[in-house]
Amino acid sequence: MVLQVDVVIIGAGAAGLFCAANAAKKGRSVLVLDHANKAGKKILMSGGGRCNFTNYYIEPSRYLSRNPHFCKSALSRYTQWDFIGLVDAHGIPWHEKKDGQLFCNNKAVDILNMLLQECDTNGAEVRLNTKITSIEALENGGKARYQVSTEEDDIRCESVVIATGGPSIPTLGATGYGYDIAKQFGLKVYPPVAGLVPFVITDQTKSLVETLSGTALPVQVQCGEQSFSEDMLFTHRGLSGPAILQISSYWSPGSKLHIDLLPTMRAGEALRQQQHERPKLKLRTWLAEQTTQKFAEVWLSGLREAELTLAELDGQAMDVIASRLHDWEVKPSGTEGYRTAEVALGGVDTDELSSKTMESKSHPGLFFIGEVVDVTGHLGGFNFQWAWASAWAAAEYV
Ligand code: FDA
Repeated sequence: MVLQVDVVIIGAGAAGLFCAANAAKKGRSVLVLDHANKAGKKILMSGGGRCNFTNYYIEPSRYLSRNPHFCKSALSRYTQWDFIGLVDAHGIPWHEKKDGQLFCNNKAVDILNMLLQECDTNGAEVRLNTKITSIEALENGGKARYQVSTEEDDIRCESVVIATGGPSIPTLGATGYGYDIAKQFGLKVYPPVAGLVPFVITDQTKSLVETLSGTALPVQVQCGEQSFSEDMLFTHRGLSGPAILQISSYWSPGSKLHIDLLPTMRAGEALRQQQHERPKLKLRTWLAEQTTQKFAEVWLSGLREAELTLAELDGQAMDVIASRLHDWEVKPSGTEGYRTAEVALGGVDTDELSSKTMESKSHPGLFFIGEVVDVTGHLGGFNFQWAWASAWAAAEYV
C-alpha cells in the first residue's frame, strides 16, 4: 500500500519517540517505525532499570564530539529543566542519586510510558516489528521528498528522521543502520567505537584484578589529559565501575591508564605521620584501613614490607609504596565492546548537519537525532538529555 504522512521517524527509542510526540504536537502527521518488538528497550535497561533520565549539570563540556560546539544550540533550547518539567507533569516520582544524576524512584518504564502517552495524546503512530527495506529521495514527489519502504508499505513523506541510535547491545535490537543511511546519502560518518564500557586486561596484571574481582574503590583515573574521580570495580576480566566507564570514552588502543588508588590523601605524608603516631602499625593494616582488607592483602602480597611495622619502614620504602598507590599504570588490552557498552562514540559527522535543526545540509528533509550523531555524553544522564534535546530541535523543523 502507498501511504502519505508528513514525517517518518525510524527508531522508537528515546530520541525517536520524543521527536514524534513533539512534531505531532505541532500538527504534523507522524509515523514511527521500529524493527524491534518493543519500543524503548534501552530506556527500560537504563540506569540499572531506573533510567538516569537527565542531569542537573548539563554542560557542553560533558559531551565528546569532533565539533564540541555542535551540541550547544540544542542543549540550550531544550534543557534538563524542560524535561524535568515534563516528568513532573506526568507525576513521575524521581530523585537525585548523586552528582546531579536524576533517576526514577520506581522503574524506567515510567519514562517509556510517558513518551508513548505523549505520542498517543498528540496523535503520533508507533509501528513495531517493521523492517525497513529502503529509504529513497523522490525526484518528482511534489511535497513528498522521501519514500520509506517496508515489507508491507511504501510511505511517502516530507521529512525522514533517523533515530536508530548506535550499535551497542545488539541483543536489544541495536544496529548501525543509521550510519548506512547516512552513507547512502553521501554523508560522512565517523566509525563507531564502544564507549562507557569496561576494560579487559590480559597482561601480567590480570591475575591481580581477577583475585580482587568484586572489590570497589574510589579512585582517580587518568588517560591523556582527561581524568575522573569516581568508583572503580575490579572484575574477573579487567576493570569496570563509573570511573572506568567514563575514561573508556577517552581511551584509544595501546594507551595507558594512570590510576590513583588513594585519591583523597598524600600517602607518603600520611605514612610518615602514622609512623610517628602509631609506629607499631603494620603497613598491611594501614593500607586495609584506607582501602579494604582484601585489597591490602592482594596489593602487598609478595612484598617484604607488607608485614613490617611503620617504624621499620624507611622513607625511601614509603615513597615507593606511595607512588605505586598514587600512579598504578594499567595497559588494557581492549574493551568489552558493544556487548556491554552503554554508547557508541562516533557517528554522523556534525559538519553534515545543522546544529539548529539536525537536518542534513545537503539533503533537505533528512534529519539525524540522538546517538546516531557524533555527539556522546558522559555517564550520568547526559546521553538521554542529548536524545531529548536533539529530538526537540528536529521536531521544530520536520
Ligand atoms: P535508542 O537506542 O534509544 O533507540 C534506537 C531505536 O532504533 C531502537 O528502538 C531500535 O530498535 C531502533 N532501530 C535500530 N536499528 C533499526 C532498524 N534497522 N530499523 C528499525 N529500527 C531500528 N543514557 C543515559 O543518559 N542514562 C542512563 O541511565 C543510561 N543507561 C544506559 C544503560 C544501558 C545498558 C545502555 C545500553 C545505554 C544506556 N544509556 C543511558 C544510553 C542511552 O540508552 C542512549 O544514549 C539512548 O537510548 C540513545 O537514544 P536513541 O533514541 O538515539 O537510540
